[in-house]
Amino acid sequence: MKIGTIKESRKDENRVALSPNVCKQLIKNGFECYVESGAGANSYFLDEHYKEAGAHVVSSDDVLSKVDVLCKVNPLSDEEIARLRTGIIVMSLAFHLVNRETVEKINARGATLFSMDAIPRISRAQSMDVLSSQSNLAGYKAVMLAANESSKIFPMLMTAAGTITPAKVVIFGAGVAGLQAIGTAKRLGAVVEVSDIRPETKEEVESLGGKFISFDTGNVVIEGGYVKEAGEDTLSRQREILKKHLAAADVVITTALVPGKKAPVLVTSEMVGVMKHGSVIVDMAVEQGGNCELSEMGTVKVVNGVKIVGYANLPSLLPSNSSEAYAKNIYAFLTHLASKDGFKWDMEDEITAGTLICRDGKILKS
Ligand code: NAI
Repeated sequence: MKIGTIKESRKDENRVALSPNVCKQLIKNGFECYVESGAGANSYFLDEHYKEAGAHVVSSDDVLSKVDVLCKVNPLSDEEIARLRTGIIVMSLAFHLVNRETVEKINARGATLFSMDAIPRISRAQSMDVLSSQSNLAGYKAVMLAANESSKIFPMLMTAAGTITPAKVVIFGAGVAGLQAIGTAKRLGAVVEVSDIRPETKEEVESLGGKFISFDTGNVVIEGGYVKEAGEDTLSRQREILKKHLAAADVVITTALVPGKKAPVLVTSEMVGVMKHGSVIVDMAVEQGGNCELSEMGTVKVVNGVKIVGYANLPSLLPSNSSEAYAKNIYAFLTHLASKDGFKWDMEDEITAGTLICRDGKILKS
């Protein structure tokens, strides 16, 4: 079977779906690999690295005309969809619930689509879980961005001129990104406080050295480890408690997410008003509408002396690691679904059934 990738077309995207290491492993397992020339350049994977791994480095037209499986990071653009052959299998992030039109267009081309973001969060699929691998790296980068924008250092420093107290970092959400942010901020020497709406995260937060901010969560609905519903009364009680923590914070990193919903607003403009001049908010949920009412996608905005960072696509700022991790997830996924001789199409398998979005002109998930 022939597997390949082309350069990502999303603006400011530095990642690539296949790395030279992963191509080497696929080739060892009997697959053939095709990579567009220059596709890995922004991740510092050069054409010669792919060639050394045994991949064919060709034009994007050649990749699209030859491969059985096209691996991509981002959902396909209209231009990319228009170039798909009937019968080609696409594996990419698709966010099929919000990108209905994209799914319909891919289906109309007679292509098959597997969505990498639909991989179930079960233990046997952990090695395929791209949302976790990318959020983990993004949580680290959020702390680096905050440290860079901050007017203060993170660790305590004793100098002849006196003692500098450690920075106070407040983190909202103790999921994948949040836990990595806690660990990273602690390693830099900050004092870290954390709020999550799932009380069971307290233990994990404390094991990383963070202080858990408890509050009465009321009747929050939790299903399969995820928040399903949090009422406005719960959120307003939470905001009330958080206000005094924000007033003392040097850095706030927000990662609060309710799957399939707009991100909960945890920092209102009034709350930004109580924060210290020179403090920084990094809003990781900006693409889901933002945990901070004032954040704007793709900008660093200053309001009352508070810097609000709203960068989307943080994994793209660490392209070597994020591409390698993404490619390893693809490898685990592909070798679960298929061998060198073809796909198993085992619809009894939770991973196949959960990720197969369209096939043979039929949309299977909506
Ligand atoms: P996750 O699902 O692992 O964690 C989200 C956490 O938020 C959960 O622990 C949940 O209990 C918590 N939460 C929900 N409501 C809350 C509330 N009211 N208060 C406090 N905590 C609350 O998600 P993950 O993978 O950690 O992603 C977090 C966010 O970061 C998402 O919005 C995701 O899209 C975003 N993200 C952004 C990136 C970027 O480049 N800007 C890259 C990767 C992730």
